[in-house]
Amino acid sequence: MNSCTELVQDVPRADFPLRTLRRLSFTDVTEIPEHLLKRSKAAKAKADGAEAPADAPAAPSTAPATTASAAPAVAAKKDVEAAPAAPVAKPDTPVVAAYKARKKIPVWAMVTLSILPVWLFMYVLAMKPVTAKATGPLGDGAAVYASNCSGCHGGGGEGIGSAYAFTGGAVMKTFPVIEDQLRWVYLGTKAYVDAGVLGYGDPNREGGARVAGASGGQMPGWKGNLTDAEILAAVCDERYNLSGGDQASEEFALWCSPESEIYLALEGGTATFENVHEVFADKGVIAIGSTPVAGVSERP
Ligand code: HEC
Repeated sequence: MNSCTELVQDVPRADFPLRTLRRLSFTDVTEIPEHLLKRSKAAKAKADGAEAPADAPAAPSTAPATTASAAPAVAAKKDVEAAPAAPVAKPDTPVVAAYKARKKIPVWAMVTLSILPVWLFMYVLAMKPVTAKATGPLGDGAAVYASNCSGCHGGGGEGIGSAYAFTGGAVMKTFPVIEDQLRWVYLGTKAYVDAGVLGYGDPNREGGARVAGASGGQMPGWKGNLTDAEILAAVCDERYNLSGGDQASEEFALWCSPESEIYLALEGGTATFENVHEVFADKGVIAIGSTPVAGVSERP
């Protein structure tokens, strides 16, 4: 930089156009490397006198060129002749052979595997409503029973203490018609005792009619704690699962089968225990209502 400014100062102001300054500042600080200078000299010499005898450095450059260009040609020819022998000369190692022989994963398998999570997601979604529909009141009832009733009546309906057993057809004997059982579970011991309706279920029950409170325990009323559909589901579980009721019966088809119209109506809110006998009047449904009523021995 210093030498540059000195130079600039030496030049008289009048002969100092901008172009001069630019030339000065760049040419003066850049050194051309030695080998580039040599190369340009050689090139210039070659251009100047093609006829003139070349000086020392130029001569070797042409001489080896002719011999060198002949040599690779021979080598290439040799290569062509030797080529077919090459694969025989170098056999695969066992590891490489095993690698080449192994079964490769086909592209279609990779594609299939990559969409597997999507398929799984759709499968799970698709299965949900089907499962709910297939189980119906019996399947739903098992769950309602397990979490609300089994604590007193036993996981298999075997009965614990004052809470009666349902097994071996016992509950079918107490309630020959499902509506009486639904009303009993809906309202519970206290409502019957308070209403002075002590006999519940079949008055001619084999082994004796049931009397509210006679067991020494209290059956809770489930009105308001379970939905009407949940109560029906639990009762279906007690009658047709735990007690072993006949699933070929008309009652089962109407109330507890997976296609039960009444169950669907209770679930959907188009019927309640208060009006189910009106909504399904053509099916001979007995009124359930919300007040205790003495039970019957058979369907009228
Ligand atoms: C707190 C304990 C308890 C729970 C919980 C309970 N029960 Fe009861 N259950 C009883 C008792 C005690 C009796 C007998 C009532 C009586 O003597 O008045 C009874 C009686 C019954 C009867 C009459 C059986 C017969 O043959 O006389 C049915 C049906 C019944 N329970 C269904 C259910 C259902 C359905 C549930 C669940 C939604 C349930 N119980 C939950 C204690 C319970």
